[in-house]
Amino acid sequence: MKTKVFKIDRENLSKELLEKASSYILNDGLVAMPTETVYGLSANGLSDNACHKIFKAKNRPSDNPLILHISKLEQLYSLVEDIPEDINDLMKNLWPGPMTLIFKKSKLIPDTVCAKGDTVAIRMPEDIIAREFITMCNKPLAAPSANISGRPSPTNAEDVYYDMNGKIDAIIDGGNCKIGIESTVIDVSQKPYTILRPGFYTYEFLKTYIEDIKLDDSLVDPNKIPKSPGQKYKHYAPKAKMEVYVGQSAISKIKNILENTDKKVGLLLFDDAIDQFKDYEVISLGDRNDLLQMSHRLFTALRILDRKNVDLILAEGVYDKELGKSIMNRMKKSASGNVHYL
Ligand code: TXA
Ligand code: MG
Repeated sequence: MKTKVFKIDRENLSKELLEKASSYILNDGLVAMPTETVYGLSANGLSDNACHKIFKAKNRPSDNPLILHISKLEQLYSLVEDIPEDINDLMKNLWPGPMTLIFKKSKLIPDTVCAKGDTVAIRMPEDIIAREFITMCNKPLAAPSANISGRPSPTNAEDVYYDMNGKIDAIIDGGNCKIGIESTVIDVSQKPYTILRPGFYTYEFLKTYIEDIKLDDSLVDPNKIPKSPGQKYKHYAPKAKMEVYVGQSAISKIKNILENTDKKVGLLLFDDAIDQFKDYEVISLGDRNDLLQMSHRLFTALRILDRKNVDLILAEGVYDKELGKSIMNRMKKSASGNVHYL
């Protein structure tokens, strides 16, 4: 299959290109689309056949359910059984945006979408291209992150192309994603409401909307099994082994490792440390105090180092607080738990 790339100008959306891309969706094909979090691999979310193709293209385990993306609240009602009244504020204020809600599913939801469970995940993205595209397809779009399962999520069209060329019909190239890590997933199908995957919206922030909300046990105690199927798999992994260091002595520890290894090392460091490592392959995570910049750069940086074929990645991390908790949730998985606080 030849994968077409449709480059879309955000300032002047081409209806014609979006229409071409939507014709693939209406024929049960696969189209990667930008969202404000990461690129999604989209298909008609009401077609078992189309959703099955997503699993095949990504090599995704069949027990890992998909998120359905909508562009208007009206689309929600036929997809879910029950909308608790006390989440109205949450939906009104944070949709469209980087938040996914899990509801009891309606009979319309194909088995492949919910992995045969009785719930369905719904998200209304904010990205203007994603919204126009969903509206044009006039269907809820199933869309997991557009990477091969286990790899870092793609935050630009080139990274999607690298994983998906030849496996999908088209990629809508809308440039870099604004946020860079995936949406916050909240289960509102039972009480207490539970954050299954931390994201741009943090526990601390969500608590201001809903008193009765908690973090999934696995996000508090790493020995507990996650409730969300997707969280239990190897994830966000670069090809190289990765080690993460957090705290005041992180840089001296990284220097020490460099002095004692003959491996080809790639470094992920904050701006203020970079000058000390001029002879190495270094990617910047941005300003140490700018967590949004860090979330924006993390996945792309891992993919850049992969292409440079390094054997070992040494990275600076941050403390598990607010957006830092969501970023470290990804980094811990990228490094298979190899995170050290110094
Ligand atoms: O930001 C995002 O959420 C991106 C963009 C493309 O929208 N999508 C995304 O999808 O990250 P994916 O499939 O890579 O991750 C979805 C997560 C997985 O951990 C999955 O297990 C969980 O949501 N999930 C989906 N449906 C679920 C359900 N019914 N119950 C529990 N967890 C669910
Ligand atoms: Mg994913």
